Amino acid sequence: VTRLLHLIGAGRTGSALGAAFARSGHPIGAVVARSAASAAEAVRRIGSGEPTIDPCRALRAGDRTLIALPEAAIAPTVAALATTRLRLDGAIVLHVAGSLDCEVLAPLRATGASVGTLHPCAAFPDRVAPPLAGVTFDLDGDAPAIAVARELVDRIGGHALELPRGGKPLFHAAACLSANSLTALLEPAIRMAQAAGASEPQARAAMTALARSAVDAVAKRGAIQALTGPIERGEHDVIAAHVAALDRLAPELASTYRQLARLTLATARRRDGRDPARDDAIERLLAERR
Ligand SMILES: NC(=O)c1ccc[n+]([C@@H]2O[C@H](COP(=O)([O-])OP(=O)(O)OC[C@H]3O[C@@H](n4cnc5c(N)ncnc54)[C@H](OP(=O)(O)O)[C@@H]3O)[C@@H](O)[C@H]2O)c1
Repeated sequence: VTRLLHLIGAGRTGSALGAAFARSGHPIGAVVARSAASAAEAVRRIGSGEPTIDPCRALRAGDRTLIALPEAAIAPTVAALATTRLRLDGAIVLHVAGSLDCEVLAPLRATGASVGTLHPCAAFPDRVAPPLAGVTFDLDGDAPAIAVARELVDRIGGHALELPRGGKPLFHAAACLSANSLTALLEPAIRMAQAAGASEPQARAAMTALARSAVDAVAKRGAIQALTGPIERGEHDVIAAHVAALDRLAPELASTYRQLARLTLATARRRDGRDPARDDAIERLLAERR
C-alpha cells in the first residue's frame, strides 16, 4: 500500500515541507488551499500532488496529512472535518504550528486517526524554501503519530525533538526569541551602522556576518561562554564612548542600545569570576536617563 502525504494549507511552510518530502521520494496526495489557483500554484512549487480546495480529499485511512494552516484556521477546519463522518483508521494527522499542541486536533481521534505536531524550527519568510537538513522539528502527540513524525523528519535530514505535554508554548516562545528577536535587534544595529557612515548594504553585510559568527560561537560553546566584547571584558570607558556617540549621532537609538546592553550585562554577570562592583558601575552607565 502506498501511503500518501496530503497537505491542508500549502503557503510558505506547507509548500516548503511538501517540496522537501517530495524530493525525499514520499508520494504526495492532495494539496489543499482556499482557491484553486493558489492550490495549483502550490503544486507547482512542490513538484507533485493533486490541487484541490476540499480538505476532505486530504484525509484517508492509513495516509498522512500535514496541516499547515495559520494557527487560527486550524480549530475551525478540524471541527468541520470531524463532523463529516470520515473513517480514518490508521491515518496520521500532524499540524506544523509552533504554539499549539496536538490537542487542537483531538476531534479527529474519533475518526480513528492519530494526531500530533511537527513544527520546524525554521523561518519561511517567502516562498523560496530554505534547506531543511539539520533543522530541529519539535513534536508532540499520540504514539503512532510521533513514530510517523520521526520517520518524516529523518527522511529530510532534520532532528526530531519530542516535547513533554505542555511544553509547546514555552518552546515556541524560545524559538521566537531566537529568530524574531534576533531580527528585531539586527534592525537597529544596521541603522546605527548607517548613522556612523556605512551605506545600508555595507551595514547589512557587516552586521549579519558578525551575527553569524556570534551564533556559531553560541552553537559551539554555549551562550554564556560565547559572549565577547566590552561588556564581557568590563570596559566601562568603551561603553561610555558608545553612549556618547549615540547621544550625538543617533539619539533615537540610544534607549534601544541601553536596553540591549543591560541584557548583555545580565548574561555577562552569569560568568564565573566577575567583578560585581565593576558590573554595577556599567549598570549605572546603562540606566535610562530621567
Ligand atoms: N512562516 C514560518 O516561518 C513558519 C515557521 C514554522 C511554522 N509555521 C507555521 O505554519 C503555519 C502556516 O503558516 P505560513 O506562514 O506558511 O502561512 P501562509 O504562507 O499564509 O499559508 C497559509 C496556507 O493556509 C491557507 N489558509 C489561510 N487561511 C485559511 C483559512 N482561514 N482556511 C483555510 N485555509 C487557509 C492558505 O490558502 P491560500 O493560499 O489559498 O490563501 C495557504 O495555503 C502556521 O501554523 C505557522 O505557525 C510557519
